[in-house]
Amino acid sequence: MSIDDASTNARIMAMLHKRASSIGKGESLTPPIVNAAKYALPGDPDHPFPYGRFDNPGWGTVESAIGALEDAETICFPSGMAAVTAALMATLKPKSKLLLPSDGYYTVRVLLNEFIRQHEIETVEIPTADMTGHALDRFDLVWIETPSNPGLDVCDIAAITKRAHAAGALVIVDNTTATPLLQRPLDLGADLTVSSDTKALAGHSDVLFGHVSGRDAEIMARIRNWRKLAGSTPGPAEAYLAYRGLMTLELRLARMCANAQALANLFYSHKAVEAVRFPGLADDPSYRIAAAQMAQPGFVIGVTFADAATAERFITDCPAIFAATSFGGIQTSAERRARWGDAVREGYVRLSAGCEPTAALVKAISDTLDAL
Ligand SMILES: Cc1ncc(COP(=O)(O)O)c(C=O)c1O
Repeated sequence: MSIDDASTNARIMAMLHKRASSIGKGESLTPPIVNAAKYALPGDPDHPFPYGRFDNPGWGTVESAIGALEDAETICFPSGMAAVTAALMATLKPKSKLLLPSDGYYTVRVLLNEFIRQHEIETVEIPTADMTGHALDRFDLVWIETPSNPGLDVCDIAAITKRAHAAGALVIVDNTTATPLLQRPLDLGADLTVSSDTKALAGHSDVLFGHVSGRDAEIMARIRNWRKLAGSTPGPAEAYLAYRGLMTLELRLARMCANAQALANLFYSHKAVEAVRFPGLADDPSYRIAAAQMAQPGFVIGVTFADAATAERFITDCPAIFAATSFGGIQTSAERRARWGDAVREGYVRLSAGCEPTAALVKAISDTLDAL
C-alpha cells in the first residue's frame, strides 16, 4: 500500500468530491453549520432529525467524507476519548476479558481502570511489541494501538486479527498515529477502528474530534445508539472544522511524513541524541512490520536525550518547535512524555513533525542540536 496508489487515490477523490456530488444548484460547496437543538417535528416523531442529540446535518457530511477514506460506516464523536469510550461500551459485555497495550495512550487505561473494570471486566496489559505473538484464546476483545503512543512500537494487525477471530475475539485498532491514509486496520481484518481526529486528521490544533469506523452493521448501530443515549455528540462548528481540516489531510501528511523521515535521519546521526525511535529507520524494531502494513512510517518520532534538562533545553531553545502536548498539527511540536508519567526515559521527547519547509525545519533543529 502506498499513499498514492490507485485505490488510495480513488478514496481521496471520493472524500474530496462527496459533498459536491450530493448538493443542488445554489447550495454552498462548504457544508453549512446548523446550530440546532430543535427541528420542526409536528406529528409522527419518526424522522432522521427529531432533536439535536440524535443527529446534525454536519455530522453526516464529515462522516461520509471520513467514511470514504475508511471505506466503512463512520460515526463521529466530540473527541478521540469519546470515540474510544463508544467503541468499548458497544463491544464489552459483563465478564469480558480485554487485552490492551501497556504502552498505548495512557488515558484509555485510566478510563478502563476507573470506570469500566468495575463492571466485572478483566483487563490484561502487555507491551505493543509483544502483541503479535501473544496467546489470544482467553480474550473477548483485543485493543491495539499501532504505532503506539508514545513509544512507537508496532504490532501486526492482520496476524493478530486472524488469531483473535479464530479465538472468537473482536479487534479494535486505535489508528490515531497513522490515520486512514497511512494504515487501514479494517482492510487488515479489524472489526473497528477508532481515531483521535484532534491530531492529524483535523490537523490544525483548533478542534477536539474523533470517529469510529466499522463494517459490521450491528456493532455500528450500537455505537450510534451509544452516542445518542450518552449524549456524546460533537458540536456543529467542531464537525465543520474537522471536515475542513480533513480536506487537506493528504497534502499535510505528505509533508509531515517527509519532514519526519528527514528529522529521524538527522537525530540518528547526531551526537547530542542518545536514541531515536522512528518506524522508518531501517534498524528500528518497528521497521519490518511498519513497512509491510503502513503506506508511510508516519510523522511522530521518539528522541531520547541524556536527561530531562537536556530534553527540555532542546524543546524550548528550538525556534521551530512548539512546546505542547498532542501531535499531528501544522507546526512541529514536542514534549517530554515522562512529565505525564509515561513509562519512558526522563530524556524521551515525542516529536510531531509539522508542515514546515523541510530544509528550514532540518536546519533549525540541527542548529539547536549543535548548541546543546
Ligand atoms: C492514540 C490516542 N488515542 C486517543 C487519544 C484521545 O484523543 P482526544 O484527546 O481527542 O480525546 C489520544 C490523545 O492524545 C491518542 O494519542
